[in-house]
Amino acid sequence: MTERLIRGRVLSFVAEPQGIDDTASYRYFEDGAVLVRDGRIVETGDHADVRRRAGADVEICDHRPNLVLPGLIDTHLHFPQTQAIASYGAQLLEWLNTYIFVEEQKFAEAAHAGAVADRFMDELLSNGTTTAVAYCSVHPESVDAYFTAAEARGMRMIGGKVMMDRNAPDALRDTPQQGYDETAALIGKWHGRGRARYAISPRFAITSTPEQMEMSQALVAENPTCYVQTHLSENHEEIAFATSLYPDAKDYTDIYARYGLLNERMLLGHCIHLSDREIGVLAETRSVAVFCPTSNLFLGSGLFDRDRFDKAGARWSVATDVGAGTSFSMLETMDEAYKVLHLNGQKLTPFNSFYRMTLGNARALGLEKEIGTLDAGTEADIVVLDSRAKSAMEYRMRTAKSLAEELFILQTMGDDRCVAQVYVAGRPMKGTAGAVKQRVL
Ligand code: GUN
Ligand code: ZN
Repeated sequence: MTERLIRGRVLSFVAEPQGIDDTASYRYFEDGAVLVRDGRIVETGDHADVRRRAGADVEICDHRPNLVLPGLIDTHLHFPQTQAIASYGAQLLEWLNTYIFVEEQKFAEAAHAGAVADRFMDELLSNGTTTAVAYCSVHPESVDAYFTAAEARGMRMIGGKVMMDRNAPDALRDTPQQGYDETAALIGKWHGRGRARYAISPRFAITSTPEQMEMSQALVAENPTCYVQTHLSENHEEIAFATSLYPDAKDYTDIYARYGLLNERMLLGHCIHLSDREIGVLAETRSVAVFCPTSNLFLGSGLFDRDRFDKAGARWSVATDVGAGTSFSMLETMDEAYKVLHLNGQKLTPFNSFYRMTLGNARALGLEKEIGTLDAGTEADIVVLDSRAKSAMEYRMRTAKSLAEELFILQTMGDDRCVAQVYVAGRPMKGTAGAVKQRVL
């Protein structure tokens, strides 16, 4: 039995903060601790109380004065695009054709997929992200590589094989039957194995024929505990193309609605240019709109209008969207989220940012009983953040007077350098202790 006491300034959320003064939305222990045993949290609270619950040979991990939070959660990114971040000068469709559909062909090679998957998981962890939802490539081997790398590290990861049967190079196209068969086999192999969960992944309406949408519908109906992920309303050219391919649909959202794909486990990347009707449909079906700020700015796609989702009671989450997203860091992502909302005259408080990266994204995935809180009985995925990791941050922190101010500095100036440690199921992953051997290409 391994028991660890993780000591620091412990912060976690119990509800979505309703403004900058909403102290009831979080729990904060200035001298706090999280007691971890066999991968789960035994207790979180004041250090003195938690220490009493620990056994005599507990391992003490003293992180004072750093902050201890639930591991960060990323609800949308593309693992085969790890080496395509920062591809220059194009908007969505041209960017996909010029760079991404070339890069993803490399994943036909299992050795390549394995090497990138290892590096991808390590990038997530060095940025403090312990759970993510990713697209793999069209090749089933890429899904095996993805979940194998996650399993080696003990990570709770969600992902799936992209399905696409048109408007992509031959080498990246499946057929409706092949997409169905390969997805069904991968679900059988990975969904619910350890911490792995499967996401049925028709890439978007442009790259799936109506026949493939029907197959996706069957997969969703036959596998109600699986996630579903796709892209929606990212860019005007994309919207015009997608709706032209489905002339009977009322709008872009209706394409997915017609095939029964909208449900509370559906994650829809971007959702930037939706009508009120479409946002209403997302609210009704409890589908989740995924806000990807670094990607939306990088591709010049547009500004996510959060207040319209909140007013309609529609769910939304946040994500990096690597490789259109420019960073694996959820801190940098929330920095850009703040700026995008600011441009729209909307505010994102520091507490709301940290809520979103943890409990908010866990709720979007229906996983708040497992991750995202530091509550007793949940899985011990934990991040330790150092608000003074960069010299400019250390200097700025000298004038910080409140926790809210510190969190805002972390989000605005921080990145992977601020991640002092990350625990996956109670195991430290930085340094030698939890390291997984890299496969070399
Ligand atoms: N729409 C369809 N595929 C993609 C992708 O890989 N990245 C982004 N940003 N949008 C997409
Ligand atoms: Zn995406």
